[in-house]
Amino acid sequence: MQNGLNKHLWWQEGVIYQIYPRSYQDSNGDGIGDLKGILGRLDYLQWLGVTAVWLSPIYPSPMADFGYDISDYQGIHPLFGTPEDFKTLLEAVHQRGMKLILDLVPNHTSDQHPWFLESRSSRDNPKRDWYLWHDPQADGSPPNNWLSVFGGSGWEWDETTGQYYYHAFLKEQPDLNWRNPAVRRAMFDVMRFWLNLGVDGFRVDVMWHMIKDQQLRDNPVNPDYQPHMATYEQLLPVYSTDQPEVHDLVLEMRQVLDAYDERLMIGEIYLPIHQLVAYYGIDGKGAHLPFNFQLLLLPWEARQIAAAIDQYEGVLPTGGWPNWVLGNHDQPRITSRVGREQARVAALLLLTLRGTPTVYYGDEIGMRDVPIPFDEVQDPQGLNMPDKNLSRDPARTPMQWDNSPNAGFTTGKPWLRLADQFRRENVQAQRDDPYSMLTLHRRLIGLRQREPSLMVGNYVPVFADTQLIAYLRQAEGHPRFLIILNLSHRPAYFKAKDPSLRGVVEVATFPEREGQTVGDSIQLGGDEGLVIRLD
Ligand code: GLC
Repeated sequence: MQNGLNKHLWWQEGVIYQIYPRSYQDSNGDGIGDLKGILGRLDYLQWLGVTAVWLSPIYPSPMADFGYDISDYQGIHPLFGTPEDFKTLLEAVHQRGMKLILDLVPNHTSDQHPWFLESRSSRDNPKRDWYLWHDPQADGSPPNNWLSVFGGSGWEWDETTGQYYYHAFLKEQPDLNWRNPAVRRAMFDVMRFWLNLGVDGFRVDVMWHMIKDQQLRDNPVNPDYQPHMATYEQLLPVYSTDQPEVHDLVLEMRQVLDAYDERLMIGEIYLPIHQLVAYYGIDGKGAHLPFNFQLLLLPWEARQIAAAIDQYEGVLPTGGWPNWVLGNHDQPRITSRVGREQARVAALLLLTLRGTPTVYYGDEIGMRDVPIPFDEVQDPQGLNMPDKNLSRDPARTPMQWDNSPNAGFTTGKPWLRLADQFRRENVQAQRDDPYSMLTLHRRLIGLRQREPSLMVGNYVPVFADTQLIAYLRQAEGHPRFLIILNLSHRPAYFKAKDPSLRGVVEVATFPEREGQTVGDSIQLGGDEGLVIRLD
């Protein structure tokens, strides 16, 4: 698409949809979603209008962290299917004009990966230096104070070889030593393996963790720590994450992709905005899309979010393409954070902001976090810190397709329980309902894909009342859109600076409003959001 002087790439124009494969669609009755299941749902994804599908890990794994502990980077876990199933899926995605993005987990492997088995076998094994092995301190304690994200120390003692190894996550997920060129070569080969097969890009897991301080300096204490927080938050990970050298590494990964046509590299990065945008790299030679998680992390409050959007727009480097995320498999679902009515406003925000949106599976039907009884918790983060309500299971429950047993997800026993209300809240029930969350998503995606102003146009903030967020989107030579969102439950009033403002409501969270002509003074109900096509 041409917009002024710029040509846009597929991932700039498109909408990404994240699938958590365990929970999308089971095809063989084992209660766990699989690739054939996803294949059977491609018609749905095409109907929804998304451009690209990102799959959370599908590789062989002991599943200590549900696939984020990989024991073979070039295979497919039998739970999910076979390499042939993968090829069939990839081809079918491409036939529909869609793209497929894989999760790449380069920071750590499984402790069952042959590389680690070798590495831990002896101190002089050639792969010893592929991981982060260090001597204990004089008193036998770990090399420094670094903590594991999932609770406890980040160091695990290895009796056989008398050293500690570092794991930012579970002890079953030892961190690779990315300062070692052989590790780089091996992981770049993994990337090429999938790129050669035709995969359209990667979402790179915990990109900001990949390099650690060479001197292993202690992390400082976090003065803002509160007891309800994960124990990891007791320290500020100043020396264990986001080291300057990581940017050289990201550049090298990008060079691997750049040997191919239009492949995409997304970075999973939880960092304050100024540190985040550094991951675009010098001259834009880093990650194409460092994931922007502000909408996930900020309080749902109009002024704070409006300010964050403007700040983000302001600090993006030249040529850096924005992106927005409302949900993923690690965070509470948007519906559970802000409520069902506000979740519609949130969808409107996600799908009308400038930059590539990522939709988490199930959010398009307003799926909620499902309360999982203690004895059914599966997520290691939940199991390791049971009193902190940190389990990620609630946001990972099976997709709700219809009102048949198990919501059409499986004929077996689902690996995680379904929402009690799945018989009412599912794709089938919402598909033809003009007022449903699904219809809202489909229409917003459709509008975004049809209207260059929404797809790739400029973002211009508009002054609004404290309850509201308002902005304009415009691509040269195309109709302008004004978006006004009421983030509160009470009525709110928008007054435009320009008294000649006129437009027609194109999409609204309450569809009754659509088709209405509006002027410079616009009243919004609580939880109301409007997309207005300006004259
Ligand atoms: C990322 C993943 C998360 C996983 C962690 C360790 O944050 O999104 O699910 O547990 O990395 O791999």
